[in-house]
Amino acid sequence: MLQIGSSDDVSAVKAVTLLERDVSAFDLNCGCNMAFSTKGDMGIKRMFDLEKTSAILKAMARNVNVPVTVKTRIYGEDQGGLTKDLEFLRMAELAGCKAIALHARFPDNARSAPTHHDRLKAIVEAASIPVIANGGLMTEDDITQCREASGCTSFMLARGAFSNVTLFNPGGSPPTPADDLRYLERLFHNSADCGLCIMNTRFNMNFGLRGRKSVVPKDVREAMQRAKTHTEMGKILGFTPRTESEELEEKRGVP
Ligand SMILES: Cc1cc2nc3c(=O)[nH]c(=O)nc-3n(C[C@H](O)[C@H](O)[C@H](O)COP(=O)(O)O)c2cc1C
Repeated sequence: MLQIGSSDDVSAVKAVTLLERDVSAFDLNCGCNMAFSTKGDMGIKRMFDLEKTSAILKAMARNVNVPVTVKTRIYGEDQGGLTKDLEFLRMAELAGCKAIALHARFPDNARSAPTHHDRLKAIVEAASIPVIANGGLMTEDDITQCREASGCTSFMLARGAFSNVTLFNPGGSPPTPADDLRYLERLFHNSADCGLCIMNTRFNMNFGLRGRKSVVPKDVREAMQRAKTHTEMGKILGFTPRTESEELEEKRGVP
């Protein structure tokens, strides 16, 4: 699955047709509220121009043979609330989306804001496509409570999975420092293998380090912030072996 951000149907189609054979599905990001998305009329901006969002999703769905899904947020009460959520859902269904992921926070909310899983119930009931609940699911109990409140049976976790790698192994023993270090190494290599730029890998690693700082000494963590390439960051962190993409990056001399 590859998620794209887009502000127009023509460039979205260019991207998905180029990559169609490499992925199992495409998702359109309509839920990111970071400036790098909103400045480009992407992410949550797509919640406030449904005509254009519909054109993008339709164009994606009509031009590829893999499923297209959408990830968005719920609307604030002053933005139309549930009525608008249902309008977005209908738009996504008619555009050909095969599922909708709902981050149960309002567009401008930070990740620390409360979630509103109860709002998802009416959306799940109205939906003809699977609704995937997202937001604030940090533990197995959170998932159970969300299922009860929303009726959702599919869940998407970001920070919960980042911070506890044994979350999906209920009853298993908690992660050891060696597990945490292995996790960080995999996070690093996966980020490099996906072709992320070093800035995004650093973003991922800093999230991965939350709650795991004790397994990486402070001076190493600080040096990691200054790394300009994956090769350099891997060396600083003492991770081996280097991946193919890191080698390629070094050969190309990517800054
Ligand atoms: C490190 C990190 C990277 C993220 N990258 C994306 C992304 O590329 N696309 C997206 O739709 N959401 C992204 N998110 C947002 C999450 O998918 C999710 O909507 C948000 O963190 C709320 O879920 P949570 O409470 O389980 O963390 C990211 C979140 C984190 C923490």
